[in-house]
Amino acid sequence: MYKLKEIADKIYYVGVNDRQKALFENLWPLPYGVSYNSYLIVDEKTVLIDTVDVCYSDIFLKKISDALNGRTLDYLVVDHMEPDHAGSIRLLRQQYPDVQIIGNIKTFNMLQGYHGITTGLHEVKEGDTVSTGSRELSFYMAPMVHWPEVMLTYDPKDKILFSADAFGIFGTLDGGIVDTDINTDHYWEEMIRYYSNIVGKYGNPVQKALQKLAGLDIQTICSTHGPVWRENVQKAIAIYDKLSRYDADEGVTIIYGSMYGNTEQMAEAVASALSAGGIKNIVLHNVSKSPASNILKDVFKYKGVIVGSPTYSGQLFPKIESILSKIAVRDIKNRVYGYFGSFTWAGAAVKRLATFGEDMKWEVVGTPVEQKQGVCADTYTQCLALGDAMAKKLKEV
Ligand code: FEO
Repeated sequence: MYKLKEIADKIYYVGVNDRQKALFENLWPLPYGVSYNSYLIVDEKTVLIDTVDVCYSDIFLKKISDALNGRTLDYLVVDHMEPDHAGSIRLLRQQYPDVQIIGNIKTFNMLQGYHGITTGLHEVKEGDTVSTGSRELSFYMAPMVHWPEVMLTYDPKDKILFSADAFGIFGTLDGGIVDTDINTDHYWEEMIRYYSNIVGKYGNPVQKALQKLAGLDIQTICSTHGPVWRENVQKAIAIYDKLSRYDADEGVTIIYGSMYGNTEQMAEAVASALSAGGIKNIVLHNVSKSPASNILKDVFKYKGVIVGSPTYSGQLFPKIESILSKIAVRDIKNRVYGYFGSFTWAGAAVKRLATFGEDMKWEVVGTPVEQKQGVCADTYTQCLALGDAMAKKLKEV
């Protein structure tokens, strides 16, 4: 019944789209949904690469059954055990009890923990191969991209990399599967958001994986999320390389909290000076409205970060505290940093923002501004100076 997209000779896309979940990992907004990708190789041996979220197992198993057309499934390759991909393994095993599961030792520990599966396993190590008949799949370990068991599967015949989450994005596949058939414009921001939210802590492991991949001729990337990359292989790799080196574009993310609009006016003043200084990429995030997901994306995108916070119960504004902890967890490097804050009777926010910058080892730009109660001419001028200093710094680097 299903007309399945053939990615290469007898390699079929059998993934699904999720337009129902509001939050990925129950954390990150999915305004455009998400796809869980899976690929089926129908050769002398039949090989499935990854499964899908268990919520979609019914349609997924039907697609596989259609593509197999009466044959059984010989192998399941598990490149990644996070349940958005591994969630249907137990049901798949029930349908195909003889399927051999290919993974590494860390995969199998998780397979036992999540699904109680301990038999029918085929362990692979770095560089091992498994023949499907006309194809010789090889396996490369990519630990901590972004889980410890992650591995990548390479098909030298058609030069296809099955890359687990790497090069994935948020967003469903709305008809087209391969990038050559799709207007991909809206996917690139979602690739950065996906990377910053999900993978962002693991820049060094991503760099190690990219060095490993540099030795392979890759013509197609089949990620577990989003389009199959064919005409954009090099672009996708370049984005991952840039993000995992914490390299960034000229621009500033201003993150501020404001209860009654006074700290917000400081943010506006800083932004106007940035613009006057020639900075075109300026994003203001009211931390009470902007999802952390989007703020993280912009902190990964832009070289400058300016944070403003009111003092609240002798601390930072709670939502500022929350986003700063998410930035710290990701150990985002090499940013230039400015900060400002406000208080009504006893200041604390500016001191804490100073400590945050020291902990991140970010270069402080300009003079921090501290405002008591409402905006006055002095603090307004100081905010302009802060924005001007940041603009000048960004023009230097
Ligand atoms: Fe898409 Fe790490 O799971």
